[in-house]
Amino acid sequence: MSDLNTLEAEISAAIASAETEAALEDVRVAALGKKGSVSEKMKTLGKMSPEERKEMGPALNGLKNRVADAINARKGVLKEAALEARLASEKVDVTQPLRLNPADEGRIHPVSQVVDELTAIFADMGFAVAEGPDVESDELNFTALNFPEGHPAREMHDTFFFNEKEDGERKLLRTHTSPVQIRTMRSQQPPLRVIMPGRTYRCDSDQTHTPMFHQLEGLVIDKSAHMGHLKGTLEEFLKAFFEVDNVVLRFRPSFFPFTEPSMEVDVQCDRSGAEVKIGEGSDWMEILGCGMVHPNVLRNCGLDPDEYQGFAWGIGIDRLAMLKYGMNDLRAFFDADVRWLKHYGFRPLDMPTLLGGLSD
Ligand code: DAH
Repeated sequence: MSDLNTLEAEISAAIASAETEAALEDVRVAALGKKGSVSEKMKTLGKMSPEERKEMGPALNGLKNRVADAINARKGVLKEAALEARLASEKVDVTQPLRLNPADEGRIHPVSQVVDELTAIFADMGFAVAEGPDVESDELNFTALNFPEGHPAREMHDTFFFNEKEDGERKLLRTHTSPVQIRTMRSQQPPLRVIMPGRTYRCDSDQTHTPMFHQLEGLVIDKSAHMGHLKGTLEEFLKAFFEVDNVVLRFRPSFFPFTEPSMEVDVQCDRSGAEVKIGEGSDWMEILGCGMVHPNVLRNCGLDPDEYQGFAWGIGIDRLAMLKYGMNDLRAFFDADVRWLKHYGFRPLDMPTLLGGLSD
């Protein structure tokens, strides 16, 4: 009998010191499992004399039941403790201010949004995207684009020049994206259909001018591209961009050294309300410059103007953003004011596509 008391004391101690449900299960198996200490004792009942069995039977059954009850009771305690611990570790302080997911909080700058929209529109028309550096050579920004040395058109650009280097070269911050036309024509063979978005720089600052701004250059070169294609391309692009069914364009003769003929394009609009509406009304607004690529420019890129021809255009991206999204001061674009960005910015996961909608 004292045997059984010792065994019970041992098992009780093991139960009490089991800190996890897994440890408790080990104790149960060691006591009540097939080869457990209590079960082994039960097996000895068969070999006992009837008298012995009469005494030991109830004693062993009692032990077995008490051990099982103690294990169950301990299990309940451990379960409760585990739940408490989990509740404590997963506690949420509902008085804490809500922290937004970065994807909900961050905003895409309208200039980036418009570049994405323009890329979606022109990609759909079969255009590739090309880029060039902001720091450009005089040759690419001017000379190769048929601006003769000392020509007054160079002065019109209010260029930021770097200091002259020892070899006499003077780099500059590109005044337009047109030098990327030269880079493209010199590095790729026609047929070419490319758009070239990027930063451009001129020493100028007021409500509609900032020293750094953005342009989108377009270039199409093949053996037969003509002004009709230029007109059609611009019309389709502007309809898609302003998300209207109709735009009316007016082409006025103009001058750019790198195109002949050169034109400035006005779009019909309505300025009577607070916002400018494109595609209706009786006003005109100048929005871009374009023309047929000058034979000298083709020659400067190693292309024979008797074989190849094409058209190009340049348009202000910031201005497009202002017109479409109703901002009236360009300088605010580059103030890095998060309140402005929160108001005018776009949700990062709403990528503009022609199918899904450009701006919604
Ligand atoms: N580069 C011109 C500017 O910044 C814009 C321009 C006009 C680009 C006519 C062109 C073009 O490609 O054909 O004022």
